[in-house]
Amino acid sequence: MKALILSGGKGTRLRPLTYSGAKQLVPVANKPVLWYGIEEMVATGITDIGIIISPETGAEVQAKTGNGEYFGAKITYILQDKAVGLAHAVLIARPFLGDSPFVMYLGDNLIQLGDLSYFLQQFSQQEPDALILLRPVANPSAFGVAEVDDRGRVLQLIEKPKIPASNLALVGVYFFSHVIFDAITNIHPSARGELEITDAIQYLINKQKHVVAHKLQGWWLDTGKKDDLLEANRLILDTYMTASIFGEVDTQSQIIGRVKIGAKSQVINCTIRGPVIIGSNCYLENCFIGPYSSIANNATLVDTDLEHSVILEGAKIVGIHQRIIDSVIGQRAQLTIAPRRPKALRFLIGDDCQIELT
Ligand code: G1P
Repeated sequence: MKALILSGGKGTRLRPLTYSGAKQLVPVANKPVLWYGIEEMVATGITDIGIIISPETGAEVQAKTGNGEYFGAKITYILQDKAVGLAHAVLIARPFLGDSPFVMYLGDNLIQLGDLSYFLQQFSQQEPDALILLRPVANPSAFGVAEVDDRGRVLQLIEKPKIPASNLALVGVYFFSHVIFDAITNIHPSARGELEITDAIQYLINKQKHVVAHKLQGWWLDTGKKDDLLEANRLILDTYMTASIFGEVDTQSQIIGRVKIGAKSQVINCTIRGPVIIGSNCYLENCFIGPYSSIANNATLVDTDLEHSVILEGAKIVGIHQRIIDSVIGQRAQLTIAPRRPKALRFLIGDDCQIELT
């Protein structure tokens, strides 16, 4: 059994964060989204992993993730030179995959940890040509959608339908036998110009191949948008965070609940109410850090109230007198109070940023 993790694409829905990096490297609880997928594979016993990368962000993904040793895996990087679809990614991975069955995992998806092994077991026992996972969603038009009969058999799969036949979305985790290659070579690009994996699975259904669908009971998130990223951050902190304090916390500070503070971080006169994760080499003074916040390495926060937010590496927030909530602050971004008169708002805002003032 091999794994193919997709870590290409442009990440347009997560701009501006993705102007400077891959969407799969955006951190959730201070760890790149992509790494959760890799760790889940290894936990399931799959250690031969191919990762699809793009020319734009491939070098960064590779540099950060390495050859797999850190995870106890062997990682092979496969370059997809154009973002022309998930099925195209599978096709170019053929030399890596050979005739082995494989699990394909979209690198910006997060599923509840531990769920993968159950479906791998189902796949190994039933030996279908494809096993897909479905989950009810509120906005099916944003996904591949399945129409199933009352016995749960898939009748039809349609990619991002305007009028969805059901609320069952295709989760970004699929199991395939090598028969999928035949299907992919027989489909045509969709209206968005991509070879869709959804169409390849539909081809298998049309050819009476063995396609099984399971409903995913645990949570699933596609972290490609800001609110989903915040929700993933909340879920991971809520479910898996354990307390550990390596940094320095002064006696004026109050640490409540599950809080993780990395080495060389300093916390002075702060109240931190977990679950919260703070990376290493951070400086926090006179702050309230509320639940579901992740602060990456080298961040500085002074006179700041923060809650349910993700702060990326090297960001600096000083003297903001209103509470910051539901926010994602990019790497090295600075949010400070004007040091000079006239009292006014002064901005240097990059492309596609979103600022909400009261
Ligand atoms: C892709 C698939 C879609 C699936 C979704 C899951 O969409 O094409 O069928 O439901 O992933 O995250 P994309 O994220 O490429 O728009």
